[in-house]
Amino acid sequence: MLIAGNWKMFKGPHEAGAFCRALRDTNLGEVEVAVCPPYASLATAVQALAGTEIGVFAQNCHWADEGAFTGEISPPMLRELGVYGAVIGHSERRQLFGETDEAVARRVEAALSHGLFVIACVGETEAEREAGEAEAVLRRQLSVLSADDNLVVAYEPVWAIGTGKTATPDIAQEAHAFVKSLLDVPVLYGGSVRPGNAGELCAERDIDGALVGGASLDLESFAEICRAASH
Ligand code: 13P
Repeated sequence: MLIAGNWKMFKGPHEAGAFCRALRDTNLGEVEVAVCPPYASLATAVQALAGTEIGVFAQNCHWADEGAFTGEISPPMLRELGVYGAVIGHSERRQLFGETDEAVARRVEAALSHGLFVIACVGETEAEREAGEAEAVLRRQLSVLSADDNLVVAYEPVWAIGTGKTATPDIAQEAHAFVKSLLDVPVLYGGSVRPGNAGELCAERDIDGALVGGASLDLESFAEICRAASH
């Protein structure tokens, strides 16, 4: 069971350091825990969590080792910082920054080849689900990925992200089973996970953890989610 907090574009170095130092002294139950700060706060987070089992993940990474790619960060740079892994293909990257399935595949492959652990995100929009296309979208997004010991998938239905509309445990379980039928890797659920629903979601057979956005920004709510998931 892995609970990862995706901070998105929140918490600069000062706030990230304070959060991570407090996280060290917090009861997080019996789950694996990771935080995904923005690039600017990665070094501080790595330093603050040194010597703990809590992993620090970037929120993206490029496929090249270096080059003329303004605004991008490479896998060797993340390794040098002591970062454990990267989230790749988040729906906000896909929807707001034009990330394609092919670019996601290249980023994932490069990150894995440099020894980074990868959380690759997939998920359908509300319109796609209503049109009965959810499985076709997942099939397309997953078709460019190959199973790897250092890869997990996060199923994040776009209609549940930041909306307070969580997928029911039944809907999530069905989607997770479908993802696993195509790619044999652990699958995290993401989309409005909160202390009040983390337990029932993580109790489903094919839900192997959670990728938490908004509720991971507050220490006590993130810790409550971790403890709920460990039951
Ligand atoms: P929320 O938990 O804020 O809905 O965000 C989910 C998410 O996008 C995690 O990557």
